[in-house]
This record gives sequence, structure tokens and C-alpha cells, in this order.
Amino acid sequence: MPGTAQTPDFPSRVIAGFDAAAPGYDTHGVTFFTAIAGRLIELARIRPGDRVLDAGCGAGAALIAASRATGTGGQVTGIDLSAAMLRRAAATCAALRPGNVALARADAAQPPYAAGSFDVVVASMVVFLLPDPARAARSWLGLLRPGGMLAFSWNVAEDPRWAPVIAAVDAYLPEGEGFANLLHHPPFASGVTVAAMLAAAGYTDITTTAADAEARYTGPRQWWAASWSQAPRIAWQHIAPNRQPNARDDAFRLLESVRNFDGSLTRRSLIGYTTARRPASGRDTPA
Ligand SMILES: C[S@@+](CC[C@H](N)C(=O)[O-])C[C@H]1O[C@@H](n2cnc3c(N)ncnc32)[C@H](O)[C@@H]1O
Repeated sequence: MPGTAQTPDFPSRVIAGFDAAAPGYDTHGVTFFTAIAGRLIELARIRPGDRVLDAGCGAGAALIAASRATGTGGQVTGIDLSAAMLRRAAATCAALRPGNVALARADAAQPPYAAGSFDVVVASMVVFLLPDPARAARSWLGLLRPGGMLAFSWNVAEDPRWAPVIAAVDAYLPEGEGFANLLHHPPFASGVTVAAMLAAAGYTDITTTAADAEARYTGPRQWWAASWSQAPRIAWQHIAPNRQPNARDDAFRLLESVRNFDGSLTRRSLIGYTTARRPASGRDTPA
């Protein structure tokens, strides 16, 4: 059983999934996460010299964009619980030599830093992977200086043409334990429910914008390989090995009607970009 966000073994299953996925993460010719992280960093309004925490930094999609935004006078700290993903981030930093990035193995849900240590906390495509997003939001609030900014991205909705494809693979798992459920468990139903979570945690100036993020695949095989190097793996690796080819074949059959004229596939996921601030003074904090 894969376990859901409500089961105690959920965090260790997420991390085991990313440890296994790390070598191919965001490769396979599909660089979905870099574009999302770039947009998130623009919305986070990082200023030169800012201290930035990248919670769940993965291979470093947001790290590098944040490091450019804060410049040599600032500092970006990337944390992740997956040692293999941190190795990918370290390799990215070794290649690009940003000079202002530190990496640490730590829990994004409760980062081990002093209160008020950061001007900006970012988390790109991570928060729905945490067992208790509201608790994580509260812990990030404490890490921010007064007036500091939280910015995170999340999956609002699957491309409607692809939803049946995902459902076909999820059907090989117990009800509620598929990939779709991993993305959309509460409060990730809408911008309104996410805003309510942040308001309850004590944030102010809460805004969510949504925009399509496009992934292009040469065909079903590239999509299947990419899925096993990303979050779908967390759910789909729990399909019995002898049933995985059936799940793949069911998905491939449905993908025939989604193919572009040249046989390629385009998937447009609706991504939410949420920003919120720690109130600048105690007066802004809800009673
Ligand atoms: C979908 S990836 C996104 C990575 C990166 N932010 C990006 O935009 O490419 C999710 C990342 O969150 C990490 N993660 C999940 N749960 C975590 C936790 N509790 N603490 C730290 N990292 C976590 C995973 O290991 C993985 O690297």
C-alpha cells in the first residue's frame, strides 16, 4: 500500500520515491520544473541581499533562480530530505558555481533554523507532498522576518485530456492512493482553500495566480519514463510489478487520442503560484 498524506509512513515513502527518481529527475528531455520555479522566483520578489530558504529544493530548479535574484550579497539555503536529490542539487551548483548557495539535509515541514532567519521562503512543487501542509506553513511563518515573503507553487488541475490517462494508471492502486490524490488532497482543492489555510496560520497579503505549465513528450514512452523520474513514481511504484505493464498499456491506449499530428504529446497542467507575507507587525496578526 502506498499510504496517503494521512498515514504516518507517508513522508518516508515520499522520500524513498524521490531517492529512486533522482537520477532521472527532470531529465528525459522534459524540463517542466525549471519553468515553474523560474516563475515562482519572479513572484517571490527576492531583493538583492535577501536570505532565502528553498524548502524541498530537489535538483535545484528554484535554487539557481533564487541565487541570481539575491546576488552575491545574499544567501540561499536549499534543504531536502532526499540525499539523492541533494546530490543532484550539489552537482547543479558544482556546474554553475552560484557562490551563495548552501545545501542541507533537513525536513521542509520543520526546517531547523532560528526564528526570523529568512526574508523569503520558497517551495516549488513541494507543499502537497508534506503530510500536514498547514503545520509546515506555520513553521515557515516563524522562520520569516516580519514582512517576509512565502511563495510556493502547486498543481491546481491536471490537463483535462490527460486526467483519464492518469486515472487509468491510478486504477491499479487502492482508492485514494493514486497520483491524482497525491496532488489534490486538502487543502489543495482551490486558491480559496489554500488561502484559508495560510490565513489561519497567520499570513497576510495572500494571493494565488494560476497559469498553464506545458510539458512536451516525443510520445507515450517518453512520458512514461519521465513519470517514473518524478512525483507519479511515489504512487505508481506501489502497483504490483507484474501489473505495471498493464497499467502502462492502458495509459498508452488512451494517449492515442491525445497525440499531436506528429505523434508527440503536449500536457498543460494548471499550476498555482501562491504568495503570502508574515505580517509586518503584531497588529496584522489575526486574533
Ligand atoms: C517535485 S520535487 C520539486 C523539487 C524542486 N523544488 C523543483 O522545483 O524541482 C519535490 C521535492 O521535495 C522533496 N521533499 C518532499 N518531502 C520533503 C520533506 N518533508 N522535507 C524535505 N524535502 C522534501 C523531495 O525529496 C523532492 O526533492
